[in-house]
Amino acid sequence: MKTITTVSELRRALAEVRRANKRVGFVPTMGYLHDGHLALIEASRSRCDVTVVSIFVNPTQFGPNEDLSTYPRDFQRDEELCRDAGVAIVFAPGATEIYPAQFETFIEPGELAKPLCGGFRPGHFRGVATVVSKLFNMVQPDVAFFGQKDFQQCAVVRRMAIDLNLATEIVTVPTVREADGLALSSRNRYLSEEERRRAVSISRGLFAAMEEFRLGGRNVDKLIAVANRYLGTVDRLQYLELVDCDTLKPAVSPLHRPAALCVAAYVGSTRLIDNVIIQASP
Ligand code: PAF
Repeated sequence: MKTITTVSELRRALAEVRRANKRVGFVPTMGYLHDGHLALIEASRSRCDVTVVSIFVNPTQFGPNEDLSTYPRDFQRDEELCRDAGVAIVFAPGATEIYPAQFETFIEPGELAKPLCGGFRPGHFRGVATVVSKLFNMVQPDVAFFGQKDFQQCAVVRRMAIDLNLATEIVTVPTVREADGLALSSRNRYLSEEERRRAVSISRGLFAAMEEFRLGGRNVDKLIAVANRYLGTVDRLQYLELVDCDTLKPAVSPLHRPAALCVAAYVGSTRLIDNVIIQASP
């Protein structure tokens, strides 16, 4: 495994890979890797010859009062996990490699970036879309892998790939959860033991709504209400919404199109997001 920190070195390494006609899989991350990232790497390894993982805590997707400076980092451990997982290249650029002096060109996503997290994190998806498109230009992957936990991010990136004719296929990999259902996230490490116990109510609520749907419930308000019953234990609910999977607009009763039940909530001072897709089984 090579660890590379500059775009020029990355391009040289990938030119060799391309000469050998190898398929490149790409897993963009902000590091502090967990089993969710390892599932993305595994998905890439199963479909591609060479897997590139980027580790870059992207400043442009954090708001002024968010956790950029405290975002968990453990580069040595990340490198070891990547090596063990069969990654070929870890790309870990410094901030100026990605954002040189006088940088001023951004990708501005449209409607898909407005609801849900977009309403609470202004500029977040602009930062995500910009860094993802830059990383795609650097790596030029055949396939890129994103976790379903970041449902809206997946929608924004897919749209961007279509709108900008990017040559990269976007694959969404199911959310990896702890045994009790809590979705894995690098931010889970902020939770105290007591908060961790309360955080599980988020996935419990989502699963309860799925069960209501499985039993025939098609009323949007009822499905949301079922999930909401579990959320009394969080400290602040930002949103709990059932949205159409394609448009991210509020789902309509009776539910007959695939929808995503999405939640963002604070437990203590930690903001957690999660979602489930609600659709009739084929
Ligand atoms: O999902 C993440 O970790 C980040 O948003 C991403 C895609 C690496 C862009 O910084």
